[in-house]
Amino acid sequence: MSKVFALLSTTMIVAGLITVATAADDDKPVAKHSTKEVMKDAHKSGLIKKVVGKTASDEERDQLVELYIAMAQNDAPKGSQKDWKILTSRLVVAAADAADDPENVDALKKVTNCGACHKAHKPA
Ligand code: HEC
Repeated sequence: MSKVFALLSTTMIVAGLITVATAADDDKPVAKHSTKEVMKDAHKSGLIKKVVGKTASDEERDQLVELYIAMAQNDAPKGSQKDWKILTSRLVVAAADAADDPENVDALKKVTNCGACHKAHKPA
């Protein structure tokens, strides 16, 4: 009886694992932060203003790079996926440039055009 039970539960565990694995496969690649979170933590928070204004700490500049990497890993909620990958890759590179050299914010200023990206990629 206990042998049957053990067998049953093993089967159930395996079935459970397969279900979990399948669910994970169906999901999009899991970035560390959703794009909504990035907007909150990088933009609404004022982090981007600090980095562009050259008042951010090293940690804050690194955080911006990390947030933009997550954003680039996410799919665009709207618009061309190709344009989204190009745009968000530019954000990563520009934030990385600013992290390397705090004075180097010209590219970052240019690519963080809120309205231009929202028009193309933000759902209404
Ligand atoms: C490269 C593209 C891009 C840039 C640049 C960008 N955004 Fe966004 N933003 C988005 C997308 C996409 C969404 C919609 C996210 C969603 O609904 O999943 C969004 C949503 C938002 C939201 C709403 C978040 C919410 O909780 O629904 C705010 C606030 C925001 N952005 C602020 C800003 C500000 C401020 C800037 C400029 C400093 C900016 N964004 C620049 C792409 C961008």
